[in-house]
Amino acid sequence: MRLGILISGRGSNFEAIANNIARRKLDAEIAIVICNRPNAAGLEIARERGIPLRVIASAGMEREAYDKLLIDELRTHEVDLVCLAGFMRLLSADFIRAFPNRVLNIHPSLLPAFAGLDAQRQALEYGVRIAGCTVHFVDEFLDSGPIIVQAAVPVLDGDTVESLAARILAQEHVIYSKAIGYIVEGRVTIQGRRVLIREDE
Ligand code: GAR
Repeated sequence: MRLGILISGRGSNFEAIANNIARRKLDAEIAIVICNRPNAAGLEIARERGIPLRVIASAGMEREAYDKLLIDELRTHEVDLVCLAGFMRLLSADFIRAFPNRVLNIHPSLLPAFAGLDAQRQALEYGVRIAGCTVHFVDEFLDSGPIIVQAAVPVLDGDTVESLAARILAQEHVIYSKAIGYIVEGRVTIQGRRVLIREDE
């Protein structure tokens, strides 16, 4: 399966996926990494590893026009599955239609709680005792779409946003590859909002 990974920043989820592929824990290939910010730290990860990379700056561009560039680039690289990995832009309905049930996102909360920006801060300020992360299919709404895998972590009394985010991030790095693996293995069925994962044979 050919992955297209979209990033905006640090790229640690992209790196975790690349590591799992390199260690043969995930049977997939990164066909292209696309980044919408020219100075993102994640660019260096792709460069160091010789993974095909395109910067398509999004600043000042209209959503539909930008998404058309994304679709063209992903199609050129014959991408089967699009993985948003800290890609901080909402995608248009046209984009979602171009890759039906083929776009995944990772979000640092147990959705549907704490969608949007600063999810870890939202969780800490709300006072939840359990936080976590979610990999889900993407629809045209923010941090919405059927949920594939979630992982929970405790919120500790001494937590800061940074310490909680770090605990969640460690789980993000595990569950993103897990969710991609389920899809690569053809074990996933979507029934309305529910995602069913067939048992491993
Ligand atoms: C991750 O924590 C990811 O869950 C979050 O951005 C971070 C990107 O880190 N995504 C969202 O908040 C999406 N709504 P990374 O660039 O190191 O993978």
